[in-house]
Amino acid sequence: MARILITSALPYINGIKHLGNLVGSQLPADLYARYMRARGHEVMFICATDEHGTPAELAAAKAGQPVADYCAEMHGVQAGLARGFRLSFDHFGRSSSARNHALTQHLAQRLGEAGLIEVVAEKQVYSLADGRFLPDRYIEGTCPNCGYDRARGDQCENCTKQLDPTDLIDPRSAISGSTDLEVRETRHLYLRQKSLRGAISAWIDSQADWPILTTSIAKKWLNDGEGLQDRGITRDLDWGVPAQFEGAPWQGMEGKVFYVWFDAPIEYISATAEWADVHGLGEEAWRRWWRTDEGAADVRYVQFMGKDNVPFHTLSFPATLMGSDEPWKLVDYVKSFNYLNYDGGQFSTSQGRGVFMDQALSILPADYWRWWLLSHAPESGDSEFTWENFQASVNKDLADVLGNFVSRITKFCRAKFGEAVPAGGAWGPREEALLTDLSARVAAYAAHMEAIEVRKAAAELRAIWAAGNEYLQSAAPWAAFKDDPEQAAATTRLAINLIPFYAALSAPFIPDAAGEMLAAMRAEGAGWPGDVRATLSALPPGHGFTVPEVLFRKIADEERAEWQARFAGRR
Ligand code: MF3
Ligand code: ZN
Repeated sequence: MARILITSALPYINGIKHLGNLVGSQLPADLYARYMRARGHEVMFICATDEHGTPAELAAAKAGQPVADYCAEMHGVQAGLARGFRLSFDHFGRSSSARNHALTQHLAQRLGEAGLIEVVAEKQVYSLADGRFLPDRYIEGTCPNCGYDRARGDQCENCTKQLDPTDLIDPRSAISGSTDLEVRETRHLYLRQKSLRGAISAWIDSQADWPILTTSIAKKWLNDGEGLQDRGITRDLDWGVPAQFEGAPWQGMEGKVFYVWFDAPIEYISATAEWADVHGLGEEAWRRWWRTDEGAADVRYVQFMGKDNVPFHTLSFPATLMGSDEPWKLVDYVKSFNYLNYDGGQFSTSQGRGVFMDQALSILPADYWRWWLLSHAPESGDSEFTWENFQASVNKDLADVLGNFVSRITKFCRAKFGEAVPAGGAWGPREEALLTDLSARVAAYAAHMEAIEVRKAAAELRAIWAAGNEYLQSAAPWAAFKDDPEQAAATTRLAINLIPFYAALSAPFIPDAAGEMLAAMRAEGAGWPGDVRATLSALPPGHGFTVPEVLFRKIADEERAEWQARFAGRR
């Protein structure tokens, strides 16, 4: 039994995430966590809301709420949606937690004491009306490139050009609208990442088994020099982890907080500590996952994220941990994803284009979405959600193949033998052939899950379901029943036994349906099929069951068209 630490990139607090966000981190992380638990490993699965930074402050202002209240409320909303999608986090924390404040300051102090943080004086826009320095995003004006009059100081949303606040024409404060701005000198903390370049580079080179997507992004940033520049790790915001604190090896950082990308990944660790706190456990309970000197040396740590997050997880966060010169556990495997597009374009939060987590659950149960998203995960390239494809997958894979198999054999059995596994007959060549086929497929499925090849795993699972259908179709117990009732009984017994077998294998993808299948078969204890032959006769003759409700309903053309129109976005 191994110990596996799994983290999903932390969703930003500002607003409900869309299905593209979900499939890029939280959902595949959940698949892996469920699989690893099913295989008997000890799993710690961590996620949290990423609560600091300008987007959080701006969203709170827009909602007319104090930022702390806004974040508390949105955390509750996101936690509820995570439960709705059956994301099985051991803990869903908050980057604004007391634990994260303390650990972020601790690591910053260590970095400072190691000489890796320097104080840099720079010029920045100060708003006299607001009485504060303005972060780039808090300055608005006219884009010099396209003339859009609400361009932000970091980027024009209209033409996507990257900007400096001083590029803007007629700049004004996004907080008060005041144009009473001036450039003043201020001081910020910089993390001297450049001096860690050698160590990071050697560490990345030692990762022989990382996926190509991850390694190529990491190396590009490392070698183009974009990524490992010294970086500013403080911002002029109220909401965040204060950069001036008791014991800090610098002065003059009052009114500044750490940059959100500095404290967010630290929350992976802090959230594990929050988990220990919630469960009334001591420090050692979380430290054995994170401190290589306290047990974490034999933990396997796997991270899940969208590709835009790769530089932060392969360069910046490791730089923070290595630079602290404390024995923190570094990631072993970084699984990254491309983007999911939506119906010929992109998901867009600002335009309300695409399906968001709350909307998805309001129209169909979690398993439908889980199955489609995971079986179409954007692994080798970007992938696209279309309603036609979603409808076809649900109707074929879930309703026709798996759902129909379960309903057909349980109803047949009830009609001919009653609601109990029938006795009589014996396995023949057809059953042996099925066993051989399934054994090989289960091994392949497990190998894909171990390798976190999500699409390949889904395809193999679908093939496992199809094999049962084909077996049932060719053994045709409904035809055999008259002339060879013994054979019909043996076929039915095997087919009924396939249901808990399928449930155990499918649970990481479709946990609710798997639970219903096990409950109907009164086989709640059925776990991962170690010995496939034994598993396929685990329910003995006489074992009672009930015919389950329809597991998956089909999506009709009219519904599909209606949803397509409803989620097309405001134009
Ligand atoms: N909130 C970031 C995003 O959605 C991800 C943060 S991951 C963390 O892109 F590790 F830094 F927290
Ligand atoms: Zn522009």
